[in-house]
Amino acid sequence: MPVPGPGYSITVRVEAPPSASAAGDLTSSIGKVGGVITAFDVVESHSDRVVVDITCNTLSGDHATVITDALSVLPGVKVRKISDRTFLMHLGGKLEISSKVALRNRDDLSRAYTPGVARVCQAIAANPEDARRLTIKRNTVAVVTDGSAVLGLGNLGPAAALPVMEGKAVLFKKFAGVDAWPICLDTQDTEEIIRTVELIAPVYGGINLEDIAAPRCFEIEARLREKLDIPVFHDDQHGTAIVVLAALRNALRVVGKDIEDCRIAVCGVGAAGSAIIRLLLKQKPGDIVAVDIDGIVHTEREGLVDENLRWIAENTNARKMSGTLHEALVGADVFIGVSAPNLFGEEQVATMAENAIVFALANPDPEIDPLEAQKHAAVVATGRSDYPNQINNVLAFPGVFRGLLDAHAHTITDDMLVAAANAIADVVEPSQINASFIVPSVFDNAVAPAVAEAVRAAAIRAKG
Ligand SMILES: NC(=O)c1ccc[n+]([C@@H]2O[C@H](COP(=O)([O-])OP(=O)(O)OC[C@H]3O[C@@H](n4cnc5c(N)ncnc54)[C@H](O)[C@@H]3O)[C@@H](O)[C@H]2O)c1
Repeated sequence: MPVPGPGYSITVRVEAPPSASAAGDLTSSIGKVGGVITAFDVVESHSDRVVVDITCNTLSGDHATVITDALSVLPGVKVRKISDRTFLMHLGGKLEISSKVALRNRDDLSRAYTPGVARVCQAIAANPEDARRLTIKRNTVAVVTDGSAVLGLGNLGPAAALPVMEGKAVLFKKFAGVDAWPICLDTQDTEEIIRTVELIAPVYGGINLEDIAAPRCFEIEARLREKLDIPVFHDDQHGTAIVVLAALRNALRVVGKDIEDCRIAVCGVGAAGSAIIRLLLKQKPGDIVAVDIDGIVHTEREGLVDENLRWIAENTNARKMSGTLHEALVGADVFIGVSAPNLFGEEQVATMAENAIVFALANPDPEIDPLEAQKHAAVVATGRSDYPNQINNVLAFPGVFRGLLDAHAHTITDDMLVAAANAIADVVEPSQINASFIVPSVFDNAVAPAVAEAVRAAAIRAKG
C-alpha cells in the first residue's frame, strides 16, 4: 500500500560516462527498484564524464540504500554523495525572528528601544489590555508541548519534538499569518506544565497545546482554561474534532442521511476520539458507540477509573452495547477511527448500514485499508495525503487562531469549534461535493479566512 513520497526524498550525485545511453541507464535502474524520479539535473559536464543530481522519492531509508546500490553497480557509474532532502530542509531549524521595524538611525533606535519604549511600557502598565494592541501579543501563539506524544512516534521528549513544533509554527504563518513559537518543556509533570504555561502567558494571545499524551492533556487544558485570560486549544483534540465534524457534515450530504438518524461507532477514546465524541454529541446524533483497546465503552465496564472514559460511558451508547469493535460496526452508519492500524477488513464494513461512511484516521496506517473499505462504504476518508478526503488539522488550527486573535478572545467555546467546522464544510460548494471530495484541499486559500471569520464572529457573540 505505501508509495514512495517526498517525506523520504533523496538527491544522489553520480558520476557517469558521457554516453548517449547514460541518462536512460541511470533512470531505468532507479525505476526498476521502485524509486520515483522527480528531478534530473546535469551539474558538471566533461569530455570523459558527466555529473548529475538525481532527486527521487523513496519508501524509506532502507529503500534509499537499495536505490543507491542499484546505481553504483552500473558500469562506469560512481555515487559521489547522497543527500536526504528532508534533513537538508531542517538544517539550522525552520524558523527565524525578523524585525518589523527598521533601525536606520538614532531616531529609529530611540523610538523602538529606549527612551521611547518606556512610554509604551507605562501605557501597558496602566492598561494591560493595551498589550494586545502594542506588542507581539496581538498576533503570537505559543505552541506548547512536553514531547510525550510526538506524532505517532510516542514519548520522544522535548528536544525531539522541536522539529514538529517548528513545522506547526511554519503552518500557522503560511496559512493564517499567525506568529507562533515552539515551547518544548523539559517536564512531563502536569503541575509544572500548567505553572510554566501560566508564567509565560503574558507574551501570547493564545496557547496551542500540542502532542501532550492523554489523559494528562485533558487536565492540563481544562486547568489552563480556568487560569488564563487567553484561549487554550489542544490541537490534537479540537483541531481533529473540527475537521472530522466538517467532513462528516459533507459526507452525510453525499449519502443523504441526517446525523440525528445515524449510529456512529468511534474507535479510539484518547485525545482525538474524546474530543470528536464531545463535539459530535452537540449535533445530537442518533447514537454514538465508543470503542477503545478494551472494547465497547459502557457504564458497567470494569476499570473505568479515568474521568474522561467515565464521562464518555455516561453520555454515549444509548443501547447499552458491550463487546468488540466488530460488534459496534454492525448496522453503524458511520465509523470514525482514531486508534490503531489494521483493526478490521471489508467483511466488517459489509455489516455496516447501507451507504456507510468510514473515516479511518489512524496515522500512518489506518484502521482499515481504504481500498478495502471502498468495496462496501459509500464515502471513505483517511489522514493520509495520498488518498482522497484527507482529514488534516491544518484545515482548522490556523484559521481558528486567526479568528481568536482578531477578536481579542479570552476563551474558546464549543460554539466556536462548530462554527469553524461549518466554515470548512461550506468551502466545498454544493456543486463540488462528491464521495471523493468532502473536505477542501489544505492549499485552498479560501479555508483559513472562512474559518477565521466564523470563529471571530462566534467569539464576538460570546463576548456579548
Ligand atoms: N487528522 C487525523 O487524521 C488525525 C488526528 C488525530 C489523531 N489521528 C490518529 O489517531 C490515532 C490516535 O491518536 P490520539 O492522539 O487520540 O491517541 P491516544 O493515544 O490519545 O488514543 C488512542 C486510543 O486508541 C485506542 N486504541 C489503541 N489500540 C486500539 C485497538 N487495537 N483497538 C481499539 N482501540 C485502540 C486506545 O485505547 C485509545 O483510546 C493516531 O494514530 C493518530 O495519528 C489522526
